Amino acid sequence: MSDDQTQSVEAAAKNPKNLGEMENADAVGTVGRSDCGDMLRMWVKFKEEDGRKVIDRATFQTFGCQTAIAVASVATEMIRGKTASEALSMSGEELSSALGPLPPMKIHCAQLVEDALRSALDPATSIAEAPMAPAAQTGPTLSDQITPTSGKVKITLLPKAPTA
Ligand code: FES
Repeated sequence: MSDDQTQSVEAAAKNPKNLGEMENADAVGTVGRSDCGDMLRMWVKFKEEDGRKVIDRATFQTFGCQTAIAVASVATEMIRGKTASEALSMSGEELSSALGPLPPMKIHCAQLVEDALRSALDPATSIAEAPMAPAAQTGPTLSDQITPTSGKVKITLLPKAPTA
């Protein structure tokens, strides 16, 4: 990672935007990586704008590395105003583009963010399909999800990242 890029990742991770749970989210997705043990949950809220259903805001929580935090911060800003399909068409590279190109060993960190977004927005993987009590629609906190009493929200363990 170049010095400039290291600084931009550090700055975004030190002061992340859109960090925290979102009440009354329309969608939520949680993913985890079995290789590094990092997890990320993303909440998404939609609004109507010019006859289109677009993302009003997105928030996240993570047990993740500095790069995952930085990417989630810039990605949740970037997807505002996009439709679900527009956001789903974005790669981890695009979602992290505000930070500059990531080194190969950090690409999977951006992939974690992309996968969390996909988990939230893709009906095939969204937990919104799982039956949940209204009070639990935003899901418990991420830390609640790794307790043995959890089970209402699917956590997708992603395959190992290719080694550089
Ligand atoms: Fe696991 Fe960055 S090292 S997401």
